[in-house]
Amino acid sequence: MQTLRLNANNPEDIRKAAQIIREGGLVGMPTETVYGLAANALDGKAVAKIFAAKGRPMDNPLIVHISEFDQIRKLVKEVPPEAEKLAKAYWPGPMTMVLPKADCIPDEVSAGLQTVAVRFPSHPAAQALISESGLPIAAPSANLSGRPSPTTAEHVLHDMDGKIEAVLDGGACGVGVESTVVTLATKPPRLLRPGGITLEQLRAVLGEVDMDNAVLKPLAKGVKAASPGMKYKHYSPKANVIIIDGSFQAYKQYVNDHKEAGTAALCYSEEASELNVPTVCYGGEENYGEQARELFDALRKLDEINAKTVYARCPEPKGVGLAVYNRLIRAAGFEVLHLE
Ligand code: TXA
Ligand code: MG
Repeated sequence: MQTLRLNANNPEDIRKAAQIIREGGLVGMPTETVYGLAANALDGKAVAKIFAAKGRPMDNPLIVHISEFDQIRKLVKEVPPEAEKLAKAYWPGPMTMVLPKADCIPDEVSAGLQTVAVRFPSHPAAQALISESGLPIAAPSANLSGRPSPTTAEHVLHDMDGKIEAVLDGGACGVGVESTVVTLATKPPRLLRPGGITLEQLRAVLGEVDMDNAVLKPLAKGVKAASPGMKYKHYSPKANVIIIDGSFQAYKQYVNDHKEAGTAALCYSEEASELNVPTVCYGGEENYGEQARELFDALRKLDEINAKTVYARCPEPKGVGLAVYNRLIRAAGFEVLHLE
């Protein structure tokens, strides 16, 4: 299949992409978080193609995207007051709510769960594609399963060229990590995946919000994942990534002492010149938003320079930094070395 490259700022191209969605095809869709792999959420056959293109395990459910709040009413059993409050505060935006699902949600979307995840993205091209197609749109991140999520149309084509009908090029994503996933199907609500909307922001609206154990730690054997996506090794470059937790001085010494062919450093932008191995940066040390925006591109760059072993600076798990930390520990298979 030839993958069409469409311009997200061209209304004619949005119409072409919407037509592909209505006909049951797949489109790479820019959002403010990462690029999604979009299909008609109400068509189980179209949704099954998403799993095939990504090589995604069938037990990992998808997020359904909408372009106006009232669309959620048909997708869930009922809309509780907490959902209205959250939507008022953070929609459209990088936040996904999980609620008991309505019968119209195909099993392919919910992966056998009784709930559905819903998001109203703020990206104008995502909104235009959803409105123009007249359908709710199921979309996971548009990477091959296990690889870093795509934050540019080039990343999407790298993983999906020839496997999907089209990609809408809307430039680089502003947030850079996937949406915050919060379930309202439990009491109190629970953070399943940290993202662009912080835990503090959720608590400001909802009061008590629990954090799922899988946010910071690997899932213990035999424990069922509340959010199936969090149980897989994820976001990984081909290299072996090891996170080094400690001061920059200790990190620098460790990296410079362990230099071998194929060693690379994943560090903050102000540090690169002090290391004697190839470096890839992911934002400034104090700038969590920049770290989020640059992390996935940095992980892909490590492949481009053929890194074999990567020593990564440990992100500060504060604010949006919690999402950065959550993604990077998965890329590292939870391998963290603690230094003085
Ligand atoms: O920012 C985002 O959320 C992006 C863009 C494209 O919107 N999408 C995205 O989708 O990251 P995906 O499929 O890569 O991640 C969805 C996450 C997975 O961890 C999945 O397990 C979880 O949401 N999820 C989906 N439906 C769920 C449900 N009913 N209950 C619990 N977790 C759910
Ligand atoms: Mg994903």
